Amino acid sequence: MTILITGADGYMGWPTMLKFAVEFDERIIGVDNFGRRKWVEEIGSSSMVPVASIKERLKKSEELGFRNISFIEGDLADKEFTRTLIKTLKPGIIVHLAAQPSAPYSHISLDKAYYTQKNNVLSTLNLLWALREENLNDTHFIETTTTGIYGAPNLHIPEGFMEVVDGEGNKDVLPFPNIASSFYHVTKGFDAVNMWLMNMHLGLPCSDVRTSIVYGIETEETALDDLLATRFDIDFYFGTLFNRWTAMILADYPLTVYGSGMQIKPFISLEDACQSLVNIARKGNDGRYEVYNQLVEYVRIKELAEELNKAAEEITGSSPGINFIPNPRKEKEESEYKFDNSKFLRIIKPKDIEMAKTLPVVIEKLQKYSDTIKSHADVFIR
Ligand SMILES: NC(=O)c1ccc[n+]([C@@H]2O[C@H](COP(=O)([O-])OP(=O)(O)OC[C@H]3O[C@@H](n4cnc5c(N)ncnc54)[C@H](O)[C@@H]3O)[C@@H](O)[C@H]2O)c1
Repeated sequence: MTILITGADGYMGWPTMLKFAVEFDERIIGVDNFGRRKWVEEIGSSSMVPVASIKERLKKSEELGFRNISFIEGDLADKEFTRTLIKTLKPGIIVHLAAQPSAPYSHISLDKAYYTQKNNVLSTLNLLWALREENLNDTHFIETTTTGIYGAPNLHIPEGFMEVVDGEGNKDVLPFPNIASSFYHVTKGFDAVNMWLMNMHLGLPCSDVRTSIVYGIETEETALDDLLATRFDIDFYFGTLFNRWTAMILADYPLTVYGSGMQIKPFISLEDACQSLVNIARKGNDGRYEVYNQLVEYVRIKELAEELNKAAEEITGSSPGINFIPNPRKEKEESEYKFDNSKFLRIIKPKDIEMAKTLPVVIEKLQKYSDTIKSHADVFIR
């Protein structure tokens, strides 16, 4: 059996490759088209942590004893490429991470919205159909979709499904609707439905992992050598919240809070995110469409900013303050939602439980790139 990891050059994909290589004896094959490197360059930024080429990464990982990793460059949105890939490798597990993952990038123009939707939805469809054409009906298909599918309703958000009662008292359990709020996020809702369909028609085991905001600079494996480091973006388009804020702290730039900061957002560390994908693959799936809410904590943005300011003062001796700016996103700010993640918490015992407590580690690691961060401070504006 081979294990295919798509998006293997990405922020989560590369650490996931290494973690699978440690935990499985099978051949781990990564695929990527290096789109992320190009998009970040295109918007005028770069990873603050230098990212080695895939050749350097593979060479170093082999030297350090990761002997079961290979890589193929290719575009999954190209159906002939994906067909050949699946036909040749016949993977027993696919961990599908490849996507254009930025909401603001998908909102730049019609071209970017079109690109994002075509890239994400077709890549997933091509993989699912290639499995179908090869009769690989037992391949465990695991995808990191997003908690963004749920929108921000004033509800206790279930793990994928909810009981709905009509006015006459009839009940049914239905998939939670795709009420995502960006052209990127809706692609993941579409993927969820395509997985659900392939499960309904073929019994294909699908694990729909609703990933929350991932934060952190490293995993146990990427920390082994600078050439194994994963990317760390801090710009408006590709930097995720905590990562961006840690860079702001180092540049002594006030933490930017959108709108009132009353939004509640879910989080998971990079270490826990990658480890839980391994655990889901290990657990297996006997032909169900299974949803996991891949989150460990959810916090109010304003409170997190205050807590990080306090922590920053203890670490660096000064706190950058908070800058409330008009919300550039169309989102509900006042929701009081809570998440059910009980199924997910049976998969993993989280290592990194509170973000504010991991701040010193990230700041310490990031310190050696503080000149690069300061010289890129223009990417914080917006
Ligand atoms: N990082 C987060 O906070 C987060 C949160 C929710 C969901 N997710 C999802 O998890 C996955 C990984 O996220 P990430 O932060 O590592 O993003 P990333 O951009 O770093 O990784 C995605 C990788 O997929 C590759 N890719 C994109 N389209 C491709 C294609 N057509 N063919 C081949 N390769 C392609 C990119 O080059 C990139 O290396 C994505 O699907 C993302 O939507 C991430």
